[in-house]
Amino acid sequence: MLFKSFLHRSQLALLRFLVDFTPPVNYMAFSGAGSADQLCGHIRQAGKTRVLVVTDKGLCDLGIVEKAISGLRSRGIDVVLYDGVLPDPTFEQVLEGADIMRAHGSDAVLGVGGGSCMDAAKIIAAAATSNQDPREWVGFNKIKHDVPQIYCIPTTSGTGAETTMGGVIKNSERREKTIISDACLMPAAAALDPNLSMGLPPAITAATGMDALTHAIEAYISLWDRGTSKSSSSAAIDLIYRYLPIAHSDGDNEEARESMSLAAYYAGMAINQVNVGNVHAIAHQLGGRYGIPHGIANAMVLPHVLEFCSDETEDALAELGRLVGLGSSDSTSAELARNFIVSVSDLRDKIGIPPQSELIKIEDHSMLAESAVKEGAGYPVRKLLDKKTAMHILEQLTI
Ligand SMILES: [Fe+2]
Repeated sequence: MLFKSFLHRSQLALLRFLVDFTPPVNYMAFSGAGSADQLCGHIRQAGKTRVLVVTDKGLCDLGIVEKAISGLRSRGIDVVLYDGVLPDPTFEQVLEGADIMRAHGSDAVLGVGGGSCMDAAKIIAAAATSNQDPREWVGFNKIKHDVPQIYCIPTTSGTGAETTMGGVIKNSERREKTIISDACLMPAAAALDPNLSMGLPPAITAATGMDALTHAIEAYISLWDRGTSKSSSSAAIDLIYRYLPIAHSDGDNEEARESMSLAAYYAGMAINQVNVGNVHAIAHQLGGRYGIPHGIANAMVLPHVLEFCSDETEDALAELGRLVGLGSSDSTSAELARNFIVSVSDLRDKIGIPPQSELIKIEDHSMLAESAVKEGAGYPVRKLLDKKTAMHILEQLTI
């Protein structure tokens, strides 16, 4: 394990060196009620005239998509819809959307929806302008051509895909989630409009909110500290602790919705700078294998991973404990860190996410653990995940 840790740190040092040479990222978002219309105006001002909107049928049926994009039509932009995105979008869906984009001759892509729609929008934009198989881009910085501008209007508050350069696409043959990350996939601008997440069902509010919390915590305890990763993640955690329970119990509370959409955006900025960690490494396996929604998988795994790395991340966890108002002035770092881990489980319970899933099968543990360890080794984590620990965590998640 010592050698593996040394190798991991060496690889990360090299990656960090390379990352520091990538072009700086511009973050741009319109926020508040009516900001979707502002974004539509911005797209027109940027000279776009033909826009592919990538979304899902459910949002179309609810009228949310028309609400989000009416500002494109009213400004004379020719719009075509691809509404075939399903949860955990696949490469097959990406290719379908790319065909529509080519036939339409779109000069920009707008993702409207949750993480699945925004991730699909990014990879569709790249696939429609290339003859390459998008499966070849799995990994970091593999896209070598110019990609049309991508815009995002999230309708949930969790994934942060509106402010990250990555997209998660499922390889349906292998039943595994793959990540394509490239600076050219960074959305040019986003709209964080609470009018579009009002009334989102409590279960989706809970799951997506815990995804945002996981992003913020994993970024805060990361081995790396780049750009605004610490300040963005602490701003997100503060907002989530104050507003996620309200958004969950009172779905039409505009202040809570607006605060959660900002929190997801800040958390997305943080992971765009330092990536995620071992929680996602395990949760991705549960999503890929069993279709457990990403936020639920993260919420189940998060306290266990924090427990696993509590010694290595004690100071950071203690800071987060103070941030959310735990402990007293004479509490030790160890007490604050412990209280913070307990508070994460308490928040998960409060918003109705179960700690275990009956979908997870004991006979899959070994294979899932191996994949999680492999994925975790690519993240800037303070403590490398090992198979025994991953198996132990999976046991605790299994009914
Ligand atoms: Fe996530």
